[in-house]
Amino acid sequence: MKFLIFTFVGVVPLLSLGSGKAIHKNDISPRTFREIKEEIASYEDVAKRIIDLAVYGRAQNRSYERLALLVDTVGPRLSGSKNLEKAIEIMYQNLQDDGLDNVHLEPVKIPHWERGEESALMLAPRIHKMAILGLGSSIGTPPEGITAEVLVVTSFDELQRRASEARGKIVVYNQPYINYEMTVHYRVRGAVEAAKVGALASLIRSVASFSIYSPHTGFQAYQDGVPQIPTACITVEDAEMMSRMASHGNTIVIQLKMGAKTFPDTDSFNTVAEITGSKYPEQVVLVSGHLDSWDVGQGAMDDGGGAFVSWEALSLIKDLGLRPKRTLRLVLWTAEEQGGIGASQYYQFHKGNISNYSLVMESDSGTFLPTGLEFTGSENARDIMEQVMSLLQPLNITQVFSDAEGTDINFWIQAGVPGASLREDLQKYFSFHHTHGDTVTVMDPKQMNIVSAIWAVVSYVVADMEEMLPRS
Ligand SMILES: *[C@@H]1O[C@H](CO)[C@@H](O)[C@H](O)[C@H]1NC(C)=O
Ligand SMILES: *[C@@H]1O[C@H](CO)[C@@H](O)[C@H](O)[C@H]1NC(C)=O
Ligand SMILES: *[C@@H]1O[C@H](CO)[C@@H](O)[C@H](O)[C@H]1NC(C)=O
Ligand SMILES: *[C@@H]1O[C@H](CO)[C@@H](O)[C@H](O)[C@H]1NC(C)=O
Ligand SMILES: [Zn+2]
Repeated sequence: MKFLIFTFVGVVPLLSLGSGKAIHKNDISPRTFREIKEEIASYEDVAKRIIDLAVYGRAQNRSYERLALLVDTVGPRLSGSKNLEKAIEIMYQNLQDDGLDNVHLEPVKIPHWERGEESALMLAPRIHKMAILGLGSSIGTPPEGITAEVLVVTSFDELQRRASEARGKIVVYNQPYINYEMTVHYRVRGAVEAAKVGALASLIRSVASFSIYSPHTGFQAYQDGVPQIPTACITVEDAEMMSRMASHGNTIVIQLKMGAKTFPDTDSFNTVAEITGSKYPEQVVLVSGHLDSWDVGQGAMDDGGGAFVSWEALSLIKDLGLRPKRTLRLVLWTAEEQGGIGASQYYQFHKGNISNYSLVMESDSGTFLPTGLEFTGSENARDIMEQVMSLLQPLNITQVFSDAEGTDINFWIQAGVPGASLREDLQKYFSFHHTHGDTVTVMDPKQMNIVSAIWAVVSYVVADMEEMLPRS
């Protein structure tokens, strides 16, 4: 099919009145596009060498082993924590030892919140100690806790309808899981909506695609003018049970204790390393993942994996003695989990050079076995990315999907820079996301090898092609 489209490009302008699909072909003449196709096809050998090295050769399992060493040693890396600071120091040294160019740290002020001790004890209709995790930025309770009756709702709409019942209670949200994007609003806004109707605290059902009684933490946001109330997540199992209890007419009482505290912002850094371009060093292809994590588990999957396959992409290219024409820049973001704080700072600092960013890439949805690349950009750029992905035929992962995704690269994508991410197994990802279960055990070295190869081939070829990806 693709081949057919390109073959007919020469006559399309005559036939395409009213056909949206064909219009973009007017911008790149058939001759030029044929040249670009030939140029990309000439990378077939390089792509095979990268794949061989990453998947079968002496770099096999390297990204996994490097990741395990860091996260076993340092543990989880919450914004503002000593662990995160230590991880940045170690990575700075690692990138220098790897012989990469221009290794440096770019300063960022980041939030510092600590959960402290926390517990939730059901007192009625029976005694039951519940697993909880406070949500990032939540305030704590008084030391004696908050003991109150529970109102269970399944949606914000139901909360509005039953607003008069909420005053003085602990609101429990038992919202169904639709997908992360739609369901995460309950985590982010749950406390604000509950406070507006006079609740004392809120507990949300974890935003998770699967559960074995594990709470999934994450960021929540207060709103100016709305009282701040303590908020935590509970397990899917407890949320469903309380929903059943309420429908049986039981009165539910919970004692919630949270020692959470917010401290003044602390100093942190985005960690940067490069392979400086040989011909257009000012032009950039950016590959990235975030180094911070939540304070539970090891942050191995979110986003240790993404950070380490991004480093691996540069290592593979360097091992093969390759230096692309434009600069390949690795960024390990800080404080992504608090809302892309490091990436926002980076964007403010570097946006003056936006016209020289060819592609921004982030892996932050897992490093399992992707089905392809997600891409946001013009139709012309997409045609080029499809050719680039065809170089991954030896791995049979060649598809290009729409809508690149990544908190940290969205600043650039929204400003018109082409962006890429991986199409991943989100069912698996959101089973472990932001839990004690996010450990090295979730990671698979063979899958990380494959992801590293894709990441290296895409970033290298786009950085080395004669022209930047077109914006239109
Ligand atoms: C890489 O990991 C796989 C899966 O654990 C293992 O079978 C293989 O022997 C490892 N290869 C090397 C070079 O350690
Ligand atoms: C922007 O690019 C110029 C070279 O074109 C370089 O000298 C400068 O350091 C860059 N600025 C930033 C903030 O990266
Ligand atoms: C972009 O890079 C070119 C060289 O490749 C340079 O001449 C130009 O100054 C750069 N522009 C910006 C905004 O950095
Ligand atoms: C290649 O991948 C496609 C889906 O992307 C799949 O349908 C097909 O079975 C795969 N082929 C092989 C040989 O694995
Ligand atoms: Zn993440």
